[in-house]
Amino acid sequence: MRLLPLLLPVLLAACAAGAETGTLVRRAAGDGRAAFTFDAGAWTDPAAVRRLPIGVFDSGIGGLTVLEAILSLDAFNNQTLELGPDGVPDFAKERFVYFGDQANMPYGNYGAAGRTDYLRELILKDTIFLLGRRAWPARGDAPHFAKPPVKAVVIACNTATAYGLEDIRAAVAAWGVPVIVVGVVEAGARGVLETNPAGGIGVMATVGTCASGVYPRTIGATLGRAGFGPPPIAQQGSATLAGAIEGDAAFTEPVAVYARREVRALAEAYRELRPGRPLETVVLGCTHYPLAKTEIEQAFAELAADPSWRAVVSPRLAFVDPATLTARELFRELARARLRLGAGENPVIARDQFYLSVPRPGFPGVRLAPDGGLDRDYKYGRLPDQLDREDTKNVPLTPAVLPPASARLLRERLTVVWSRLGGG
Ligand code: DGL
Repeated sequence: MRLLPLLLPVLLAACAAGAETGTLVRRAAGDGRAAFTFDAGAWTDPAAVRRLPIGVFDSGIGGLTVLEAILSLDAFNNQTLELGPDGVPDFAKERFVYFGDQANMPYGNYGAAGRTDYLRELILKDTIFLLGRRAWPARGDAPHFAKPPVKAVVIACNTATAYGLEDIRAAVAAWGVPVIVVGVVEAGARGVLETNPAGGIGVMATVGTCASGVYPRTIGATLGRAGFGPPPIAQQGSATLAGAIEGDAAFTEPVAVYARREVRALAEAYRELRPGRPLETVVLGCTHYPLAKTEIEQAFAELAADPSWRAVVSPRLAFVDPATLTARELFRELARARLRLGAGENPVIARDQFYLSVPRPGFPGVRLAPDGGLDRDYKYGRLPDQLDREDTKNVPLTPAVLPPASARLLRERLTVVWSRLGGG
C-alpha cells in the first residue's frame, strides 16, 4: 500500500497516454536491463545530473542540423547568461548523445499509413533510449550498459515533436526524472513572432507534421498570447523533399526540382485562402529543409518575380529555421533549471556519442527490403504494445556507417558535427 502514492502518478500518466503507450510508460522506469526500460535511479544527485550529457534525437540524421545549430550557438554570454554573443560557443563545455532512428524512418509517413499509434510508441522508445544506459555495440549480439543517461531531451524532429512532445512531457513527469524536454515546434512558432507576426505564413514540413496541424495550432497560440490576431497560414506537406535532400537514391532529380514543386504547391495553397496579403514568412518545419534553404529561397524568388504571383508571394520573405531557435530555448531551459555545467565541473563523457538504429535481421518475423532496411509493409504494419519485439538495435553512428550521400552532406554542410563525429 505504501507504494501506491509513488506509483499513482505513473499509473495516471499511463492512463492519460492511452492504450498505445500506457504499458510502455508503466514498465519503462526500472533497473534498465530490459529493452525499452531505463535505470530510474540515475538522477538522484543534482551535481551528478549537471555532468550528464544532453540527448538529441531525430528519426534519422536530419536532426544533426539541430545539433549543428546547438554546437555553433553563440547567442548568450556564458558567464552572465545575458543575451548577446561573447565569442564562446554557448554549449562549449557540454557533451551530447545523439540518436537517429534511421531504421524506422521516415516518421512523416506513419500517419498516412494509419499508424500514428505506433509512431507515438517509437518516439517514447527514443526518449527511453536516451534516458537509459542500454545500447548495442557495432558487432555482437548482446547490448551493453555503458551509455550515459541524459539531463535533457531535445526532440530534433518536427514530426516527432508533433506526435510525441506531450507524451514525452507526461511520461517524464510521471517517472519523476528532472529532465528537460525541448521540441523544435514551439521554438519555431516563437521564431514567427520574432520575424513578422502580422504577415501571411507558410509552413513546409512532412506530410505527417502537416496532418497533425501542430504548426498552425502552435503558431496561432503563440501569436495570440502576444496579442496578434489569427494569421493566414498555409501548409505544404512533402513526401519527397526530405529524402531528396538526404540523397536517397529513390529520388533521381536535383533537389531544386523537388523544392520548386513544393514551393509552388505551398503558394497555391496560400492563394486558396484568399488572404488579402502576401506570404511573408516561411517556416522550414522539417529538419532537412535548412540544408536546402538556397534551393527553396530561389524557388520563392522565381515566383515573387512572376507578375501573376506578385500579390501572393512577397519578394522579402523571412525564413524561420526552428533549429537555431531550439538551441536558444535549450540554453534558457538549462540555465533556468541550473543544469548547465558549473565552473570546475566536468562532463561524465569526454566525447559526444552518436547512435543510429539498424534492423536486427535475425529477429523472429522481421522482414527486410533488398537494401537491408526494414521492408516497407512490415515497417508500417507494426502494432503498438508488443514490447518484447526489439526488431531494431541502436548501434554507434560513425562516418563509416553513413551512406555516401549522407556523409557528403555532413562533411560539406554540418562541419562542426562532422568533426565531433570523428570525420576529421
Ligand atoms: N525528421 C523529420 C522531420 O523533421 C523528417 C524525416 C522523417 O519523415 O522522418 O519532420
